[in-house]
Order: sequence, then C-alpha cells, then structure tokens
Amino acid sequence: MKQLMAANWKMYKTREEAGETLKELASLLTGMPENREVVIFAPFTCLNACSDTLKNETRISLGAQDCYPQKEGAFTGEVSPGMILDCGADYVLTGHSERRSILNESDDFVGSKTSFALKNGLKTILCVGESLEERDGGKLEEVLVRQLQTGLKDVPDDTSPDCLAIAYEPVWAIGTGRVAGPEEILESHAVVRKFLKIRFARQGASRRILYGGSVKAENAAAIMQLENVNGVLVGGASLRADSFSRIVLA
Ligand code: PGA
Repeated sequence: MKQLMAANWKMYKTREEAGETLKELASLLTGMPENREVVIFAPFTCLNACSDTLKNETRISLGAQDCYPQKEGAFTGEVSPGMILDCGADYVLTGHSERRSILNESDDFVGSKTSFALKNGLKTILCVGESLEERDGGKLEEVLVRQLQTGLKDVPDDTSPDCLAIAYEPVWAIGTGRVAGPEEILESHAVVRKFLKIRFARQGASRRILYGGSVKAENAAAIMQLENVNGVLVGGASLRADSFSRIVLA
C-alpha cells in the first residue's frame, strides 16, 4: 500500500493560483518514490481547473473537502459525490475538525457522508481527533473510538483499503504550529489501528492512517517513520509547492 501524502488547501486559492501551484508541484515531484501517492484537496471552485492541469499527471490525485450525502435535490449550497466526480476529482474528506466545530457537523452526519461518498465512488478520508480538553481529561480513546464507530457506521466490511483511509488530526495541533509529539502520535495511531483491525478484520491492518496537524518539511520525515503512520494530511504547509514537495519527498 502506498503512503498517502495529502494536501488540504481549505478556503485558499483562485483557479489560476491552484493551476500554478499544481504545475510547480508536478515539476518538483520528479523522482518521487514509487511508494508515495499524492492527493490535493482543493476548494470546489478550483476542481475543474485542477483536473485540467492534472490531465496528463498520474502521480497526483484530486479531491474535494466535503460532500453532501444525497445524489441531488433541494439542498442549497451543497455538492454531491456525483458532482465531484464530474469535476474530475475522485477523493473526498469527511469529518474534518473545522467542519465538526465551525459547521456543527455531528458524528452521525459525518458517518452518513462517509458511507454515501464511498457508495457513490469517491475514495474517502475520514478525519478524527480529540480536543485538548478531551485529551487532558483522559478521554482520547473514548473520543476516537466514538468518532470512528459512528463515522464508519454504514461502511461495508469489505471496503478496499485503497478507498478508505483515516486521518488522525488532534484538534489542538491543527493550524497552531504545535505538532503532536512522537509519543502522542504513536498512542493515538495505535488506538485507531486497534479499532480498524476489529472493525475490518484483515483489511484493518493495511488500511492507511494519516497524521495531520502542523506537519511541515522540517518534521515530516520523523513523523512518517513512526509505527502506524501511513501518510500525512497537511494544511498550511501544503499551500506552496516548494514546501509541500519537500514534505512529499521527505
Ligand atoms: P495544518 O492543518 O497542517 O495547517 O495544521 C491540517 C489540517 O487541517 O488538515
């Protein structure tokens, strides 16, 4: 299974900026190891432009940052998995902590999105992670297991490891510059792995677990070496091609 190096561009970049960044990234990734896969989670408004830029590029995949769990209908402002595929993207993020906290998405709604996205042909990365208060209160395992259980509630047991990955992103490390330490990452990824092995039996061992939260070129190599870390999800440091390429090649 390839290591998954994911960029979350959040609400940044015009179509032109996105296209420029991708062109630069593609040229910087010459010599990328075979065992790495890159996916860019771009804003909806840039997906078409990114897909055009990437049409001859097999090493970089494209994803959306969210989707709505219905095929179509009166859901003002929402975007369906089919529409995302139609724009040339084949990945989606569900359960990002910014959507959980700013947009009040519940575990249950995240679960509906995850299973619907998978069922409709999108490869999905489900994000989970605890707040500082929850960690300090000794609730790490309880919170992660709850988010995983509900987030994967209707996901078929035989879902391919290619199609579903988990991103562990401690809320207190996202955009704060405070990266989780090796012990904290090892502890949390072990909780996620244990859950996946029970939930998916054999396929739980090979399913990818990404770490996210203040990953940058300087700390990426050390994080990637940790047990049960099979990739990274990068926000701030993914916006520039030079810094993201250094993470991918770390
Ligand atoms: P960060 O964001 O790398 O800027 O901390 C990570 C994320 O939100 O996915």
